[in-house]
Amino acid sequence: MERNRHFNTNAVHFVDKQIERNTSKARPIYQTSAFVFESLTDMEQYFTGEKEFLYSRYGNPNTNDLGEGIALLEGAESGVATSSGMSAIMCAILSVCKTGDHLIAMLDVYGGTYSLLEDELNLFGIEVSFVLNLEELNSVIKKNTKAIFCESITNPLVRVEDLPALIKKSKEHELVVIADNTFATPYLIQPFVLGADLVVHSATKYIGGHSDVTAGVITGRSDLVEIAKKRVISMGCNLSPFEAWLACRGLKTLSLRMDRQCANAKELASYLKSLDEIDHVYYPENVSSKGNGAMLSIQLADNIDVDTFFKSFSFVKIAPTLAGVETSISYPLHTSHRSVPQALRDKLGIGKQHVRVSVGIEDSRDIRTEFQKALTIATT
Ligand SMILES: Cc1ncc(COP(=O)(O)O)c(C=O)c1O
Repeated sequence: MERNRHFNTNAVHFVDKQIERNTSKARPIYQTSAFVFESLTDMEQYFTGEKEFLYSRYGNPNTNDLGEGIALLEGAESGVATSSGMSAIMCAILSVCKTGDHLIAMLDVYGGTYSLLEDELNLFGIEVSFVLNLEELNSVIKKNTKAIFCESITNPLVRVEDLPALIKKSKEHELVVIADNTFATPYLIQPFVLGADLVVHSATKYIGGHSDVTAGVITGRSDLVEIAKKRVISMGCNLSPFEAWLACRGLKTLSLRMDRQCANAKELASYLKSLDEIDHVYYPENVSSKGNGAMLSIQLADNIDVDTFFKSFSFVKIAPTLAGVETSISYPLHTSHRSVPQALRDKLGIGKQHVRVSVGIEDSRDIRTEFQKALTIATT
């Protein structure tokens, strides 16, 4: 510590000493916008590849941890973290499609994704066609079709995409497959291992797992991820170090949480299926040997007052998100699928009695009691 400097200088430089040789058990947070160098020659080493970090928008130890960690779990070649699931989807698409290209997407994607594809991609001169199933694929493929976008398990109707069939068909036409693996997580499904080229995540959901971070990840073929990284950097879609650190911390318990959440969801789904107050329970089967996911959707019977139903829970909260350790419910009609045209919502079956349930890690008996109570109060 320099003792002969003045107050204003000391106030800024009191932490100048390097602590690199101290070994912190937890990963430190590199909450910095840039990295410092000994000399111009030292800085040049970033550009020759000898130094890893220059400026946090280009890369940061915490954000790299997240991209590389998910890539490892997906069995993918490489990965990059982004500021949100939406920016992951956008940068993944822009790593494959440019002005004049055509993209095909499954129709039953998350409402925010639908809006991005329908309302924003045309600003880049990228044309989009939606299909309801794989049979419709052949009729929309054109000479300029470059890629197909799907969700491995769809939001909110939890339809499990037939990835092997979709990938096979896409490869016949040399299309790049981009799969959103948010609902399944690599614990249940690994689209890259099945042959997808890029796998995207809203890490806001199961990867973070605690509803305290907004983040995204793109993993997949390293040639495409390299291009996606360029888009992330140029468009400023990078993730902040603290958010990356939180998501990495969440990732460590992903399998433990998924085991409990899948078991609780299975139990709740089978209970709800036995009730007259529920017209239909959407919960998939045979997703993986480890479980069928922790999301389900229910169609309330017409004699259930939806407003009263939502108001009648105690610890189960109304929240326009999913995948946290706490069980939550949402109303796709007014949140995730609000921007989707009504005709399309009707086609998909997302109506006024539709409730999306994200099952948490609480005791399954208490979750069941919450639904039992809400249904009794809301019966008219
Ligand atoms: C399947 C899916 N993909 C992407 C997103 C967007 O993620 P984010 O809110 O992190 O941008 C969501 C958000 O709910 C989602 O459910």
